[in-house]
Amino acid sequence: MNYLDPLENTSDQLFEYIRVPPARDVPGLEEDARRGLLSQPRSLPPKYFYDDCGTELFEKICKTSEYYPTRTEDFLLKRHAKDIIETAKPNNIFELGSGSSTKTQRLLDACSEIAHFPSYTAFDISERALMFGGIELSKRYDWLQISLLLGDYEAGFMNVPRENGSRLVLFLGSTIGNFEQKHAIQFMKDLRNNMSQTDRLLVGFDRVKDRHILDAAYNDSQGITAAFNLNVLNVLNSELGANFEPENFSHLAQYDADKAQIEMHLVSSCAQRVMLNNLREFIDMDAGERIQTEISRKFTDQSLTRLLSDSGFVVEKDFVSPDKYFSLVLAQPI
Ligand code: AVJ
Repeated sequence: MNYLDPLENTSDQLFEYIRVPPARDVPGLEEDARRGLLSQPRSLPPKYFYDDCGTELFEKICKTSEYYPTRTEDFLLKRHAKDIIETAKPNNIFELGSGSSTKTQRLLDACSEIAHFPSYTAFDISERALMFGGIELSKRYDWLQISLLLGDYEAGFMNVPRENGSRLVLFLGSTIGNFEQKHAIQFMKDLRNNMSQTDRLLVGFDRVKDRHILDAAYNDSQGITAAFNLNVLNVLNSELGANFEPENFSHLAQYDADKAQIEMHLVSSCAQRVMLNNLREFIDMDAGERIQTEISRKFTDQSLTRLLSDSGFVVEKDFVSPDKYFSLVLAQPI
């Protein structure tokens, strides 16, 4: 069973680096763009934000004073890391959407402290973040065996062979909020079906809160979120041969309280025609017309418990920050 193609296995065994092919057919950018941009209302899946530039902008967002999720989750990880490791007793920590694995250090610090030594697997779509994180971790933890998996974790997870022993799967940052409800349940069910009884899932959930705090978090005063949002147009230009002019669009993020979600858009500031050369198509946009680029759902105790139970998990521990802005949930397969 050789699904995986090791690209590089450094001679000093710092880490293995593997490109994971999708286990099932997933639409690529061309298909997603055809489906999302050529019909109304126009939209794009958020995973295309994360080219090198977008990944860097996202990391800058995480450091703004308005964007509370990253630091709140980091605080929770720091505070409860020992409890989490002692409860899950993982032989392997497996992180989906690891980025550069900064928050993971909280858990690995706890492992060092209590002398429990699991291996670590990072799965991400950004090669640069993955490499950077791998190098950083290998410097900090001399006991740590690291595997870096490059690919779309949504389609590739089933392709990753299981190691013996129990696994702690991390899905942090409230990335689950970027999926519509049905899609989120499907994704979590897929996870569940690839986990055994002794495995644990640790998920970050951003919670419903005062709309002013949410609006500010997605409209930071330095305009970094705006640049992050607009950068997806550069991705379309280079990957699709499109000719979007980012100056002709503006960033819009607003909270829909009924749906409990932030909706992020790019708004056309004039009537314009945009060529999508690789698709042999074009789109005409009116002034004020939008492309939805992301939803970011916010959760209540009830909605997060429901999502987990609908996908085959039960909440074992719910760590809530003192300001109730964010939850870190340790869940067990049922
Ligand atoms: C990818 C879920 C962490 O939805 O809050 C940040 C992405 N978008 N600012 C989120 C994002 C705009 C983010 N996560």
